[in-house]
Amino acid sequence: MISQQKYQILSNRQIHGNYYQLRLKCEKGFKNSAPGQFVMIHLSDNYFPLLRRPFSIHNVFQHETGNFCFELLYKVIGKGTHILSKYQANQWIDILGPIGNGFSMNNSIQSAFLISGGIGVAPMLFLVKYLLDNGTHCHVFNGGRTSEDVLCIDTFQSLGVKVNIYTDDGSAGTQGFVTDDLNEQINTQAPDILYACGPQPMIAKVSDIANKNNVPCQVSLESHMACGMGACLGCAMPSNDSHTSYFHVCVDGPVFFSDRVNWTRFSSQI
Ligand SMILES: Cc1cc2nc3c(=O)[nH]c(=O)nc-3n(C[C@H](O)[C@H](O)[C@H](O)COP(=O)(O)OP(=O)(O)OC[C@H]3O[C@@H](n4cnc5c(N)ncnc54)[C@H](O)[C@@H]3O)c2cc1C
Ligand code: FES
Repeated sequence: MISQQKYQILSNRQIHGNYYQLRLKCEKGFKNSAPGQFVMIHLSDNYFPLLRRPFSIHNVFQHETGNFCFELLYKVIGKGTHILSKYQANQWIDILGPIGNGFSMNNSIQSAFLISGGIGVAPMLFLVKYLLDNGTHCHVFNGGRTSEDVLCIDTFQSLGVKVNIYTDDGSAGTQGFVTDDLNEQINTQAPDILYACGPQPMIAKVSDIANKNNVPCQVSLESHMACGMGACLGCAMPSNDSHTSYFHVCVDGPVFFSDRVNWTRFSSQI
């Protein structure tokens, strides 16, 4: 259930470069949020930034102290995320959430590929843990511009998950895009589903590969958002559905089966 409340910060740690991990104390009920859902953070009591900023739920767990916690993984790219990076442990922060429709899963999914680019890895840890708990075999494909942009590798590996790494400049893993050998990997391993999150051209490519291989694919879309509640049209995304031309990413998504998105109209609006 969506709530608006203040959460106590347990830590706000710089991982490296512009990437940070925010850990917050929550109620046990927060564990019922679904991988792929997000929260909207009110960052300042000043006029700027006026609008809340959306962030995927990265992880939810029970700490050894017995407290329940959730984590966000974020990249500082503008004023809002800069303000967020300055928050300290023990401060309280105003959060609306969990919001949106997360990744759908069912017991018939025996194997999954999780494909992410850059900060698109943020929702993937929560998803991997959920899938592993349900006995699904997971294979992570994680790409970034440089080694600095490839995150969570140790965490995935500590869960026993195979990870393929790709960087544009070859500073970690294989040089190239995370989608370069996806076709080949699908032909070799035949996963039941693909899950993707990252830059829009990357997820459009994953969707195209999924479509050609006839594998179901779910994508988490990161559009600009203002209200987060379906009221402003700020997050409109072209749809293939017969009953509507556009989705609201905030209330209809952020996760969609990729064949519901009209990628041709989508590419022309970025
Ligand atoms: C559902 C959802 C989940 C998200 N999850 C995460 C997450 O887990 N971690 C994370 O770091 N970020 C996430 N984002 C993106 C995050 O919300 C933005 O990075 C943040 O709002 C930027 O705020 P800012 O004030 O720092 O930057 P701004 O000053 O608002 O913007 C700085 C620059 O970034 C561009 N920008 C801002 N937001 C977006 C966006 N959504 N897509 C593309 N370009 C953008 C702006 O056009 C501008 O050029 C998510 C977005 C959505 C919609
Ligand atoms: S952010 Fe306002 S309608 Fe989605």
